[in-house]
Amino acid sequence: MILLNSSIGNYITSNGKRYSYFGGNNYLGLAAHPLVKEAAVKAIEKYGVNFSASRRTSGTADIHMELEEKLAHFKGKQDSVVFASGYQGNSILLEVLRERYTHIFLDQYAHSSIHSAVKSSSARIHIYNHCDAGHLEHLMEEFSGSAPLIITDGVFALTGEMAPLDKIYPLVKKHNAILIVDDAHATGVLGKNGRGTPEYFNLPENENIFQSETMSKALGSYGGFISAGRVFTDFLRETSSIYQASTSLPPSVVGAGIAALAVINGNPELRIRLIAKADDLRERIKELDFQTTSDRTPIIPVMLNSIEKAKQFSLYLEEHGIIVPYMDYPSSHGSYMIRIAVSASHTEDQIDELLEFMKKWRKIY
Ligand SMILES: Cc1ncc(COP(=O)(O)O)c(C=O)c1O
Repeated sequence: MILLNSSIGNYITSNGKRYSYFGGNNYLGLAAHPLVKEAAVKAIEKYGVNFSASRRTSGTADIHMELEEKLAHFKGKQDSVVFASGYQGNSILLEVLRERYTHIFLDQYAHSSIHSAVKSSSARIHIYNHCDAGHLEHLMEEFSGSAPLIITDGVFALTGEMAPLDKIYPLVKKHNAILIVDDAHATGVLGKNGRGTPEYFNLPENENIFQSETMSKALGSYGGFISAGRVFTDFLRETSSIYQASTSLPPSVVGAGIAALAVINGNPELRIRLIAKADDLRERIKELDFQTTSDRTPIIPVMLNSIEKAKQFSLYLEEHGIIVPYMDYPSSHGSYMIRIAVSASHTEDQIDELLEFMKKWRKIY
């Protein structure tokens, strides 16, 4: 565990020492952006720290309405609903859609928020091989005639792989299925307008496709959200006990979310810069003969054949002033890994330095 004594950005302070930072999910570098921080402070000054009530009772403030309107605009939808965390989004969707599906098809390596949401559903569960639309198709054929719901991460948190939505979408059409995409790592990052993996894959507008999203990663703030047509968002507000029984998002988080959206809308080049940096780093990592994944996301895993190697690599980098966390459980590729998260704000020098020490480690070990 890394103990922070600072905010997160290109550099962090941990145990009193300064490190170049490639951890976390601060893809657009907004978590400590001056305008985002200022908005959070202003919101606290005006509204205090907590509204201390649920949205349905007395916990809705004008800034919640403003944030939801701005998120809807960002997403090109009629409306958005914000709630306590991105983790809750999958549970909320499965909760409010429950009358519309009997069978759930989920990726084997879906995020734990998906697994825990699915566990509390009474539908029949089918697990398909990781990112394998052929296997999904086979399972869906076997249970054709059911009311199917497919649920997957849009971008997988550890490996940065994208779900093959281009291949999954025809199955959605064919079986009249619902598709839920957890786009925690794609929101603000992928697609022409940063709307995530459905936009990246140019999927047509389809009212059976839902995204579960979060402001806690690229959007630099905190809290989950779901965007859709107003009939659906009204239904969600009326029927989701998770939404209704949680305290509303705190002012600082709401203020920060509004400010982060303004930064993103005003600076579309942030996304372009991010992906260009990630592409470049991934290629140079491959040139060093490390094994990684190829999807064009800001998450770059480096696959290693044992947990000891992963730990040693991460510690070696740390000793040289660079944080790249290792994962102490095997990834979907069956190997252990360190996980590099690129940010639009990383400098060329930082990236060169990371590569230099990766190269040195390769020579020594
Ligand atoms: C794929 C995925 N979904 C959901 C979440 C939960 O989002 P939040 O941390 O904003 O609650 C995470 C990670 O945090 C994630 O990686």
